[in-house]
Amino acid sequence: MAVHSVTKRFGILTAGGDCPGLNAAIRGVCRAAYDRYGMEIVGIANGFRGLIYEDTKELKPEDFSGILTRGGTILGSSREKPFGAADKDEVAHEKVSAIKETYSKLKLDCLVVLGGNGTNTTGYKLYREGLNVIGLPKTIDNDIFGTDRTFGFDSALLIGTEAIDRLHSTAQSHSRVIVIELMGHKAGWLSLYAGVAGGGDVILLPEIPYDIKSIARHLEKRAKSGKTFSIVVVAEGAMSIKEAEMDKKDRKKYRLDNGPSAAYRVAREIQESTGMETRATVLGYVQRGGIPSASDRVLATSFGTAAAELLANGKYGRMVALTGTDINSVDLSVPEGKVKNVPTDHYMIDTAKAVGTCVGD
Ligand code: F6P
Repeated sequence: MAVHSVTKRFGILTAGGDCPGLNAAIRGVCRAAYDRYGMEIVGIANGFRGLIYEDTKELKPEDFSGILTRGGTILGSSREKPFGAADKDEVAHEKVSAIKETYSKLKLDCLVVLGGNGTNTTGYKLYREGLNVIGLPKTIDNDIFGTDRTFGFDSALLIGTEAIDRLHSTAQSHSRVIVIELMGHKAGWLSLYAGVAGGGDVILLPEIPYDIKSIARHLEKRAKSGKTFSIVVVAEGAMSIKEAEMDKKDRKKYRLDNGPSAAYRVAREIQESTGMETRATVLGYVQRGGIPSASDRVLATSFGTAAAELLANGKYGRMVALTGTDINSVDLSVPEGKVKNVPTDHYMIDTAKAVGTCVGD
């Protein structure tokens, strides 16, 4: 017997970069909403694009059963930004109007959006336009303001750590410096945690522009102490002090001239500064694929069922969040337009330094 719920019918979409745990979260929302409250559920394809072009499907229990351990998202995703700067105002206006039209045509009481900073920001803007919206924070980057952790992060941390472990043996066999690039365009959480977990000798974050001389000194000191190899963990958004001083346009040109990937730029600079044989590896989308870790399955399911409670109580305009060990929610305005960067005084940076890791400063 379904318990009373303010929300009778809602739409659900996944947008932005995918990550392990998305399907676990979808399952959490849908099973709780359907089994406990008898809500009707509309799946929206490929992020906000599905709302703009009315690409939707009524979801039944068989659609959200057996997906807990599946990677990716059964709904598909896109980086469609209806309010996006890329679109001229009139195009953006048309897209937002189309979204509002589909929302009312589908007779939705609420829209549940699973995504990163951009997705929850778009969700908040739609909320301000009069739609009921609830956000769930997901990303391997763990850079969403308002929540202590996002699902996707732990799975990517496991993948990154395993890759670093594997690189130790080949670096040792060839007495090389190996540079591995992990995802994290704006925030370095993944590189910091995987670097500590994998015993990286150098960890470079977007938040701490690096001095190649400091890195060279550290690697040479290791060599002098008899270490025949080193592992350098680089976030894709890491940059040198010189790059950090450039404006966006000059930095873009610099990267076009010097290799678009941080790992290859750092590897070349290390080889030029120290003469040590250096190789680079970019882990890329491997970090976003495959089945979710147990921790991500638990967090994603908890976020999903918490979203179902917000739906049942009509608590719209909220984003589900983890605070310490508690699952709660914050105003959907909290993550808007922000990135949760690694504070330069974060204890994990000191932990890394305390075990002899160079962070490029
Ligand atoms: O947002 C997560 C993320 O994986 C970032 O770490 C990465 O820079 C970006 O997505 C890649 O975006 P795309 O999937 O659009 O290439």
